[in-house]
Amino acid sequence: MTIRLGLPDVGAEEAAAVAEVLASGHLTMGPKVGEFECEIAGAVGVPYAVAVANGTAALHLAAMALQLGPGDEVIVPAYTFPATANAVALVGATPVLVDVDPATMNLDIEAVYRAVTPRTKAVLAVHLFGNPVDWEALASAVPPEVQLLEDAAGALGATWRGMQCGSLGVLGCFSFHPRKTVTTGEGGAVTTHSEELDAALRRFRHHGIDMAKADIPQPSTNYRLSDIQCAIGIPQMRRLPELLAMRRRIAAGYTERLAELEAAGKVVVPRAAEGDVHGYQAYVIQIDNRDEALTTLRAEGIEVQIGTYAVNLMTAYKEQGSRPGAEAVFRRALALPLHSQLTDDDLDRVVAGVARFV
Ligand SMILES: Cc1ncc(COP(=O)(O)O)c(C=O)c1O
Repeated sequence: MTIRLGLPDVGAEEAAAVAEVLASGHLTMGPKVGEFECEIAGAVGVPYAVAVANGTAALHLAAMALQLGPGDEVIVPAYTFPATANAVALVGATPVLVDVDPATMNLDIEAVYRAVTPRTKAVLAVHLFGNPVDWEALASAVPPEVQLLEDAAGALGATWRGMQCGSLGVLGCFSFHPRKTVTTGEGGAVTTHSEELDAALRRFRHHGIDMAKADIPQPSTNYRLSDIQCAIGIPQMRRLPELLAMRRRIAAGYTERLAELEAAGKVVVPRAAEGDVHGYQAYVIQIDNRDEALTTLRAEGIEVQIGTYAVNLMTAYKEQGSRPGAEAVFRRALALPLHSQLTDDDLDRVVAGVARFV
């Protein structure tokens, strides 16, 4: 039997919620959007959340809301899903790819410090796979006028020193893609403490229209999320503690089974810093023989996957040169299956499979 990489935890409650929206006749811009936004804001611990079409839209809107543009530099990690860098490029600003620390797979804070120039306007830090960035260290690496943004696409429910990811920066960006902890099929959200940024995000989500003045101060596009999708998200958000607990249980099962290989230095396992809580959007290990493991395990019906991308190796960004940390993790990272249907036998089979390649 194939062991799936991910499996969205959606069922009867979500189906009933969709049926209710279909029957209501309000398929978009109806009451479910605000309800979903309230759930998100409550969970993240911020006053404002804006639901949007996907995580990439969330990042793009965040860059627009901060008025980033040509001539501005925005520091982003070199090892991330490319949407992080693309969102900066889409507004005409320059994504400055900064290397990551292979131990955390997050931004290397000293490298951030070295990358700051007078043009640096923001850092778009990624809590990769749900591992919280050391926010204090990041803040201390840049001048106070540099805005700190969070790509928390995979960090719903993750906490840094007790504070929710998505509440740390001036804006937090989430994704509700099916491999995320909470899913709406496609979906995303931007969270903020600022009433002004909330208003800008709402304008830019809806063509740039200022509803009060029936005017468009600056054009934008349609990044709305439908009521059908928000309806799926509401019961998902209410089950967030349960969904997170399930992920922690699977992650602990892997970590326990990999302990000997970890102690022998043959595998790096994902772990949040002391006092922080990992969201485990993905359970990504690092091994030397990753490519062979990837091909063989897939052929045997274990759906493993690479971690994410070294963005500096992409044609659009390769003039920025080498980032050794990102490239090493890109070659070595292996995402293991992670979903609520995994049994202890499945975990045994995955770990036994991995163990043959270390
Ligand atoms: C770190 C990160 N940022 C952004 C995104 C983009 O989210 P979406 O697929 O919802 O557009 C992803 C999606 O995988 C991601 O992992």
